[in-house]
Amino acid sequence: MSEAYVMSAEMAEFYESTFVPALFAPWAHRLVDAAAVTSGTSVLDVACGTGVVARTAADRVGPAGSVVGVDLNEAMLGVAERVRPDLEWRLGDACALPFDDGSFDVVLSQAALMFVGDRATALREMGRVSRADGRVAVQVPGRLTASPGYQALADVVARHAEPEVSELLGTYFAVGEPDLLVGLFETASLRIDRFDTWLGATRLGSLDTFLAAELLPLADRVDRAVRDRIVEDCRTALAPFVAADGTVNAPLEVQLIVAHRT
Ligand SMILES: C[S@@+](CC[C@H](N)C(=O)[O-])C[C@H]1O[C@@H](n2cnc3c(N)ncnc32)[C@H](O)[C@@H]1O
Repeated sequence: MSEAYVMSAEMAEFYESTFVPALFAPWAHRLVDAAAVTSGTSVLDVACGTGVVARTAADRVGPAGSVVGVDLNEAMLGVAERVRPDLEWRLGDACALPFDDGSFDVVLSQAALMFVGDRATALREMGRVSRADGRVAVQVPGRLTASPGYQALADVVARHAEPEVSELLGTYFAVGEPDLLVGLFETASLRIDRFDTWLGATRLGSLDTFLAAELLPLADRVDRAVRDRIVEDCRTALAPFVAADGTVNAPLEVQLIVAHRT
């Protein structure tokens, strides 16, 4: 797993209370819709984090269906369990899923593939645990160049921090190129049925909250003075994304792929 997601319990709670409503909850509805999760469906949420996709799916499948979330990070799973103790949460690696072949109608994964070391293996695993007539649906951030608020943030970070710190922010967008994604799905023997590119946005109450959230993975990699310079520079660079009432709306491209195993 990427170092970007070695999370403490405190960071996992911050993720759930800040990132999930600002960004990932709206994504989850799109993913579950695209994968046609309906009453009675059995669903696996791979790299579930604090469980927003699993929860969204659970609301659709009803008592006749089932939902399992799997993640490598115990702190994220701890929050998932606290929020929805009625669902099944499992510790496990996306590259070696702890499930039998063909166990699920639908296998979902959101905002995670870019952090996985061997992405093709993770996709192949998602195909393996899906039923022959099942679906694998994946959603990831798209291209940094098509996500203007984030491009502005990345440019500021690159001006002030070491290259390896900039690379860390770049990880979010590491699988955002459509050709790269198509190649990964082909390598994993998954046939793509649908490929949507859409423009989402991160919406937060203030620039300070936005920066606290987005700079979190950099927290112990830049010293206080560098962080202060980044924040100061962002007040100008991100001004186009801050409304008169102080709220932030930072556009973010998203890639959504629905596939089935061949
Ligand atoms: C940005 S979070 C996304 C969480 C969730 N899917 C959501 O939409 O909020 C990325 C998650 O991927 C998980 N992750 C990264 N690599 C993983 C791997 N190899 N196996 C399982 N989980 C992994 C992290 O622990 C983290 O919870």
